[in-house]
Amino acid sequence: MMSRTEIVGWLRETDLSRLDLLRSDADETRCRHVGDSVHLRGIIDFSNHCTRRCTYCGINADNKTLRRYRMSIDEIVTCAKSFKAQGLMTVVLQSGEDRRNTTDWITELILRIRQETGLAITLSLGERRPEELETWRTAGAERYLLKIETTDRALYESTQPGRRNAWPSRFATLETLRALDYEVGSGIMVGLPGQTMESLADDLVHLGRFGPDMIGIGPWIPHPAASISLAARDETDQVPNDLRTTLKVLALARLVCPDTNLPATTALLSVGLLQAWEGGLSGGANVIMPDRTPAHYGRLYTIYPGRISFAPEDLMVLRDAIHRMGRTISSDSGASAHYQKRTSAMIAQAGGEGSR
Ligand code: 5AD
Repeated sequence: MMSRTEIVGWLRETDLSRLDLLRSDADETRCRHVGDSVHLRGIIDFSNHCTRRCTYCGINADNKTLRRYRMSIDEIVTCAKSFKAQGLMTVVLQSGEDRRNTTDWITELILRIRQETGLAITLSLGERRPEELETWRTAGAERYLLKIETTDRALYESTQPGRRNAWPSRFATLETLRALDYEVGSGIMVGLPGQTMESLADDLVHLGRFGPDMIGIGPWIPHPAASISLAARDETDQVPNDLRTTLKVLALARLVCPDTNLPATTALLSVGLLQAWEGGLSGGANVIMPDRTPAHYGRLYTIYPGRISFAPEDLMVLRDAIHRMGRTISSDSGASAHYQKRTSAMIAQAGGEGSR
């Protein structure tokens, strides 16, 4: 395991040839642990209503000028039905923390998607109560995405006005998800104002210890309606929110979590177009999550400006780019190798105990 000191060293490294070595090391590690196939997931951002006030995010409840939308279950199912033909075997159901998302409504959505599409389901609905998470797992959702965002408690809590103990509760939700046998996705933002290289190194150490089944890493992108202030920047040790730094963090994440699923995220695409995804895939990533929200809704899902939605013809361009890189596109739902390993170890252990 890479030490914190080594991680800080890499984060501060500016020598391009050394950084190339880091990326090729991550690429080789990716190939050895999770192979050459790229898993494609289709994201549906089905509501931009949100009760949270996260100061880094453009759809926060205090943004009164944003037009809000909610897709109906029929609209979501119709969208998901087109996925298999496009090589998308997983649907990521993503939303703001919307009051409409009751336990029953989400359960019905999961059941309809399972019955009518057979796709694997990832939920990305924010922080929810353990009982609801359990109900949805039983209904057939197998993955859940909840980024820790930053492990710097003071920094995280400074982005959560009016919330006490915001960081421990987020952390506890991640633990609950693991106990409920979800494939658990965590992740961080790179370059949040006030984030230092030391704190980013702590994030990577934390990810290495926690061992998520999936890790989403994207640059923080400023939004005019997000109140976090650039003045909060720590000028001496501020992490840049640029492409080069994000790719560096992606490579380090692959090295600390060799068998995790690591997407080249939509936020990465938004700062560097297709080259950014190619940069991600050649430096540790093995997953791409094209946003397939119908465009008239998707353009309102402005967690940051310039978030990119995918039309089917864009997917063709993406598939060609992946093949040109000598990679294959996975035809199964792409469960995380890390999850498969830890669950089979658990079953073997339970079996061993039973026969003793
Ligand atoms: N820039 C980049 N990522 C953002 N997120 C929210 N706001 C921004 C932003 N301005 C990410 C967070 C969160 C997810 C919903 O989107 O990581 O988990």
